[in-house]
Amino acid sequence: MTLPEKIGQLVQADLCCVTPEDVKTYNLGSILVGGNSGPDGDDLAPAPAWVAAADAFYLASVDTSDGGVGVPVVWGTDAVHGHSNIIGATIFPHNIGLGAMRDPALIEQIGAATAKEIRVTGQEWTFAPTVAVPQDFRWGRAYEGYSSDPQLVASYVGAMVRGLQGPPTGDDLLSGPYVIASTKHFLADGGTDNGVDQGDSSISEEELRDIHGAPYGPAIAEGVSTVMVSFSGWQGKKMTGNSSLITGVLKDRMDFGGFVVSDWNAHGQIVGCTNESCPQALMAGVDMYMAPDTWRPIYGDLLTRAEAGTIPIERIDEAVARILRVKLRLGLFDHGKPSTRPLAGEYDLLGAPEHRAIAREAVRKSLVLLKDQGVLPIAPGGRLLVAGEGADDIARQSGGWTLSWQGTGVDNSHFPGATSIWSGLKQAVEAGGGSAQLSPDGSFSQKPDAAIVVFGEKPYAEFQGDRATLALDTELTGPYETMRKLKAQGIPVIALMITGRPLYVNPALNTADAFVVAWLPGSEGGGIADVLVGDAAGKARFDFAGKLPAAWPRTPDMDNGALHEFGYGLTYDSPVAGWSELPEVDMTEVAGDSRLWFGSGKPAARWSLLVGDGTSGGQTRITTTPAEALGGRALVTAENFLVQEGAQRVAVASGEAQVSLRNFEPVDIDRETNADVLVLMTIKVRDAPDSATLGAIGPASNAAAVIDLPATGEFVRYGLPLKCLRDKGADVKSLTEPFVLTTRGKTDYALGEVRLGTDAEVVLPCR
Ligand code: BGC
Ligand code: BGC
Repeated sequence: MTLPEKIGQLVQADLCCVTPEDVKTYNLGSILVGGNSGPDGDDLAPAPAWVAAADAFYLASVDTSDGGVGVPVVWGTDAVHGHSNIIGATIFPHNIGLGAMRDPALIEQIGAATAKEIRVTGQEWTFAPTVAVPQDFRWGRAYEGYSSDPQLVASYVGAMVRGLQGPPTGDDLLSGPYVIASTKHFLADGGTDNGVDQGDSSISEEELRDIHGAPYGPAIAEGVSTVMVSFSGWQGKKMTGNSSLITGVLKDRMDFGGFVVSDWNAHGQIVGCTNESCPQALMAGVDMYMAPDTWRPIYGDLLTRAEAGTIPIERIDEAVARILRVKLRLGLFDHGKPSTRPLAGEYDLLGAPEHRAIAREAVRKSLVLLKDQGVLPIAPGGRLLVAGEGADDIARQSGGWTLSWQGTGVDNSHFPGATSIWSGLKQAVEAGGGSAQLSPDGSFSQKPDAAIVVFGEKPYAEFQGDRATLALDTELTGPYETMRKLKAQGIPVIALMITGRPLYVNPALNTADAFVVAWLPGSEGGGIADVLVGDAAGKARFDFAGKLPAAWPRTPDMDNGALHEFGYGLTYDSPVAGWSELPEVDMTEVAGDSRLWFGSGKPAARWSLLVGDGTSGGQTRITTTPAEALGGRALVTAENFLVQEGAQRVAVASGEAQVSLRNFEPVDIDRETNADVLVLMTIKVRDAPDSATLGAIGPASNAAAVIDLPATGEFVRYGLPLKCLRDKGADVKSLTEPFVLTTRGKTDYALGEVRLGTDAEVVLPCR
């Protein structure tokens, strides 16, 4: 291989930003599909489009018409709970639910079924299993870990790797129903201080080894082909640049023989690196750079340095050899294009009944019973009311990393063949001769014999799921009132919680007669009815088998200890005990979601709303309404939106007006900017300004983009990519006013909400 060919092998590009022609020209070693990417720019592309894309990239990679050696490309995807980027695939419970079931044999079956479904659409590599051992469940990725217990995680990882890759001695994996796996994220992704995603872990070396290192031994023993390095750091040093842990420990001492891949532009976070240039990662032991949109400069930079001899050829050769060895083991050189390999194009295997049966069994076994005052199982002959917005919402019960990165922007129509919690319950109750009614708000025409209220978290992924406390977000606690109302009418209430983590939900635990944790069950909601709805004789068909995979908090703060320890879980045989009321905490003082800056008509804790004219002296802080600003040119009043006075109406008579949100301390939104996160502004424009900009101000920067704000008379959620503000010069690591809406001329609008997120109704172009 020539030097450029070798360098190409070290680089992985995302589908967003690479063509088959690029793969051919640069001999790229790998492509990936990130959470929001898909063939032809379509995240929700149908399965055949994935096969066609796999063929196109493969054929380009082996094209030797330019005189090269033509090493076949390997395609990685986040099949983290089933082949979860593909419409129609079986969606297994997220890892936290699998941790509750304590069943390594079933884990292996899940791995095997997932591998088969991946092979249908032509990919060869999954970025799974996540073997994080989360210690602080405020972390937004806690649900991607099986458990807080290192032994439990270690007991699963080998089984999952075997399911995905086949036996450790196996080669030519592509002739069997296998793919290569990736244990991630090395090391201590689940050990960061305060559970901050991509943060730093200050733990001791013993904890690093015994808690977070525990799963890697079994993974290596099972022959895991790749390891992904964590975005996070240990004792102040980013893992991606940590040579002593990647090379010294993982490769040399633990004898890991596969290749090491970095995470999404994580190299850019190493001190002295940028997203475009970072020989430090290679030198620390990273073999392949995940350089989604930066592959071109990374390739160029590595090549220039290799040619100049400033990175040793031995290190390059070692990295290439590791990548080629994995490709050889996979059988990539011996099989033709993806569509011709076993299982490819067998679309019936996506969501096949036998795979769904495995998922349903996992759902059944993962349910954890925290309370039952003798109301379960539900007798099927009666009338069942099913309440809660989440009851008939497959996206919600599947969580993040489902079809889209955040698991948002999809609805039941994107899950053909799947069963919502509601439809599973309805089927079971009707099969037993009873009737079921779906009523999100809990109202009914005929009094039911029992009510199930489904509630809990909404989908999120990565840092978007980070929370300041272990409380269910206040805006998701509406169903508590539904539970109280039903209870007050003498109806037995069963609370069913969808969640990625143990959270403080004492009001629900106190009110409901029974409380079941369903975690993030995925596409087979029928598994819930299997356990909750009894047989004709009123006896349980399946018992509760799930045990808590992590401690459950007593209050929003773990400092007050656990309500239930790891391993807790009742069964139908558990004696019914009297209930002692749990403490209920006043949530108004509890810090909420750090990405909500303005909501329910007021700035979030630590934020203020200011109206000014761009000069430092001219700002008025709005604390009560109505309020005047700009010497009477602007009037701020309250207006209803979602809740009473849930928006602030701003009427400007003339001239320039700046409405901004300021934090007490400069905020750092660098991580959000590196992903495709937007600043979202929900606004109702009655009278359009002559012109407007949306910008951000920091101690050392001031940037803005020109936006269109047409008068629509309705609330619209606009989103401006944070990358746009960075491109315009905002210092996203330090912003005092990360939201500045500037208007010119007479205008009248109402501001409902400002937050970071991905679910814009209208994405504003970067102008
Ligand atoms: C995540 C990884 C994932 C990768 C590719 C990263 O942001 O941390 O877990 O495999 O993106 O989507
Ligand atoms: C991608 C994810 C990736 C994340 C990195 C998103 O835009 O779709 O796959 O994990 O960025 O933070």
